[in-house]
Amino acid sequence: MQPPAEKFGRVTIIVHWVTAISVLVSAIIGLVSVYTNDTETTRLATAVHQSIGIALFVLVLFRTAWRLTHPLPPPLPGTPPMQNFAANAVHALLYVILFALPITGYTGLAARGRDITIFGLFDLPHIVPLSRTLSVNAQNLHMYLQYALYALVLVHAGAALYHHYIIKDGLMRRMWGLRA
Ligand code: HEM
Ligand code: HEM
Repeated sequence: MQPPAEKFGRVTIIVHWVTAISVLVSAIIGLVSVYTNDTETTRLATAVHQSIGIALFVLVLFRTAWRLTHPLPPPLPGTPPMQNFAANAVHALLYVILFALPITGYTGLAARGRDITIFGLFDLPHIVPLSRTLSVNAQNLHMYLQYALYALVLVHAGAALYHHYIIKDGLMRRMWGLRA
């Protein structure tokens, strides 16, 4: 019998699932704010959206530092090198998106001189120059990045579910936090 695959650490597991849920919630609220037309709902959605987005940015900073100082468990034994490479590439791109979405979201607002209030508690300082061009470019990038996020999450979650339901190799349990 195969020994059970080495699991991810508890912190990595908690941060992974908090990130996964918050990213999806943030994207849905972002869409609500775009598709409701300047109503009370729009303002509330924008306020919540930017707050969750900035919280996610702090979480990804922490996650990156954690990952750099705590090595991940080795891949499942017998994983073909190409599959490993593909999984790592998707993970790396997810990290890039997790940095780029909050940065472009922030820049789009800050370069227009908008207040960016976080959970109604404090305003973020404006550290980018006031520039209409910068704001428009950042907003456009923010919009396009969402599609990259959807595509990557689809591939990533699809691969995880494929391993779980079709190959049944216990990969999902590594990130599940539950006992085998
Ligand atoms: C919603 C469904 C999701 C499922 C089912 C899922 C599942 C998994 C599994 C099983 C692993 C471990 C892979 C292995 O053992 O090699 C993993 C790793 C990872 N996942 Fe997800 N995931 C989901 C969503 C997300 C989202 C939304 C993000 C980021 C935006 C994300 C980012 C990552 C990253 C970066 C890793 C590599 C480990 C790390 O650096 O923490 N996942 N995921
Ligand atoms: C990982 C975090 C984030 C995700 C997944 C995300 C996702 C999205 C999505 C899907 C939209 C709708 C785009 C469209 O269809 O045009 C949107 C809009 C928007 N996002 Fe984000 N975003 C994130 C972080 C942020 C942050 C940190 C800020 C600002 C500090 C921000 C500011 C905005 C703004 C201003 C809009 C335009 C609509 C509005 O006025 O609310 N986003 N975002």
